[in-house]
Amino acid sequence: MIKLTNISKIYGDGEAATEVLKGINLEIKDGEFVAIMGPSGSGKSTLLNILGALDVSSSGSYEFFGTDMTNLSKEQRALFRRNVLGFVFQGFNLSKKTSALENVEMPLIYKGVNASERKARATKALRSVGLESHINHEPSQLSGGQQQRVAIARAIVTEPKILIVDEPTGNLDTKRGHEIMELIGDFNKKGITVIMVTHEEDIAAYASRTIYLRDGIIEKDFLHVA
Ligand SMILES: Nc1ncnc2c1ncn2[C@@H]1O[C@H](COP(=O)(O)OP(=O)(O)OP(=O)(O)O)[C@@H](O)[C@H]1O
Ligand SMILES: [Mg+2]
Repeated sequence: MIKLTNISKIYGDGEAATEVLKGINLEIKDGEFVAIMGPSGSGKSTLLNILGALDVSSSGSYEFFGTDMTNLSKEQRALFRRNVLGFVFQGFNLSKKTSALENVEMPLIYKGVNASERKARATKALRSVGLESHINHEPSQLSGGQQQRVAIARAIVTEPKILIVDEPTGNLDTKRGHEIMELIGDFNKKGITVIMVTHEEDIAAYASRTIYLRDGIIEKDFLHVA
């Protein structure tokens, strides 16, 4: 599904140029659950941003089902993100003073879905993360774990092929963290490909494969044994 060939990313130019990704070769199959690990500064978020079409590589190729992503315009990348991907970030990124329901409806507004269908789909997504009783709560009225579940509902409401997740449990205590991972694991079992950055071994254990980055190269890439 995804094929990266010799991807490099260079920040800055001239004397200040630093190569942060140094020739990444990687294939991810439809339905996989991949954890990306590695020390701080090793390039995890940079790689995730390229996979998520939020950023572009300096050289190399990124194919998605045979389409060359490196030739897409900014607008085409935005459409790709909107139609194919769901994002969950560490800080939840929910709109304040906005109900859970309205937060989850947001990506559907960008897709031009009408109001009644939006409400139905957002309610269903919130139900799927166990928050049907909290749809009218604002983020400040929800716990950290509940806010993260709203963020997951918002990411899956568009029925993405791929969930892109950066440190999903970073702001949560251990118990809430594991609940969130159970939820993400359930969505993966339903067929959504998950690509997740994490620092924690026990969180990476929910994935079926770990890619370990060091200094911008893939140091290890292994499947988990069940
Ligand atoms: N916009 C930028 N301009 C210049 N350098 C950058 C930029 N973004 C990241 N870098 C550098 O690229 C390297 C990799 O950054 P990246 O954010 O991918 O690391 P990471 O593995 O996600 O680290 P962490 O675990 O701390 O989140 C770092 O040395 C960082 O300083
Ligand atoms: Mg990072």
